[in-house]
Amino acid sequence: MLYSLVKPILFSLDPELAHDISLGMLQQFHRVLPGRRVDKPTRVMGLDFPNPVGLAAGLDKNGEYLDGLGKLGFGFIEIGSVTPLAQPGNPQPRIFRLSRQQSLINRMGFNNNGVDFLLDQVGDKARNFILGINIGKNLSTPVDQALSDYCLGYEKVYASADYITINISSPNTPGLRELQNEEALETLLSGISELRARLEDRLQLYRPLAIKLSPDLEQQAIPVIAELLRKYSVDGLIATNTTVTRDGVQGHRQADESGGLSGAALRDKSRQLLIDFHRELGEDIPIISVGGIDSTEEAKLRFELGAKLIQLYTGLIYRGPGLIRQIAQSL
Ligand SMILES: Cc1cc2nc3c(=O)[nH]c(=O)nc-3n(C[C@H](O)[C@H](O)[C@H](O)COP(=O)(O)O)c2cc1C
Repeated sequence: MLYSLVKPILFSLDPELAHDISLGMLQQFHRVLPGRRVDKPTRVMGLDFPNPVGLAAGLDKNGEYLDGLGKLGFGFIEIGSVTPLAQPGNPQPRIFRLSRQQSLINRMGFNNNGVDFLLDQVGDKARNFILGINIGKNLSTPVDQALSDYCLGYEKVYASADYITINISSPNTPGLRELQNEEALETLLSGISELRARLEDRLQLYRPLAIKLSPDLEQQAIPVIAELLRKYSVDGLIATNTTVTRDGVQGHRQADESGGLSGAALRDKSRQLLIDFHRELGEDIPIISVGGIDSTEEAKLRFELGAKLIQLYTGLIYRGPGLIRQIAQSL
């Protein structure tokens, strides 16, 4: 109700400015927000989620808005992508609304304050939701040295996250998605799983590992990736990131902006990757479905297609935060 009143104002502003204002207000007033969450507990990746509806990575890249976001009713919140060092991302404007198609194009380019800043924000406060931390590599790190950035980020966030996501699927860091190729993925997963074993031993705690994939994978890559996820005991698969294709938005005056497309125009691809990976993985590795979920019907469908959890981003921008409770309630 409230969102329908403020949405026209927010949509009259530049998308990034609207984003900063709404998150700033949310954080500012979090103490007076009622914070009613629908509890639909579920156990996934060995963790107890209060409900299966989560916030996708990218909205809170630095973990600065956790108090406010924690009031919106999510069962889990994924912050990041964070890189080892702070970096500015691409020049603005870098988010574009395709309102008629209920979609966004973004080329943020991992703008963030670096992993140490994020860890300061997270602190060791008690939380009533599951916290995922999504890690990426710095733009200045060559792709063939990506493992060192991922290991650095992974080790730093290990104790502070409930689960850790390795993002190898953002289209806005040149070459990043090549890490999904068989040889590169094997190098990455074997390096991270060695580190995981060392950290588990040293800290006596286990943090599940999730990998986030692109919707633009070739069909033949799917069984290859599924095999590697099994081989290295990856705990979860997040499908999907944004797409570089423009199906469903052709002709829009901003369709040619470079970057990743999210929202309703991504829906079919995200569904299809869920179907394809669920066929390969069965119940062995849980899938977190994300991409174009903006209604209770779509959310239900994702669970029917095999998802164990779902995440939202663009749907929240167009439908407002009421969507979180609506979906959780309907499950
Ligand atoms: C502005 C914007 C920034 C994003 N930044 C990140 C990011 O830093 N890391 C990441 O893994 N995904 C990022 N994403 C992708 C989302 O997490 C999600 O996978 C994608 O938008 C599809 O879901 P949706 O259709 O519900 O938005 C971003 C998406 C948007 C729209």
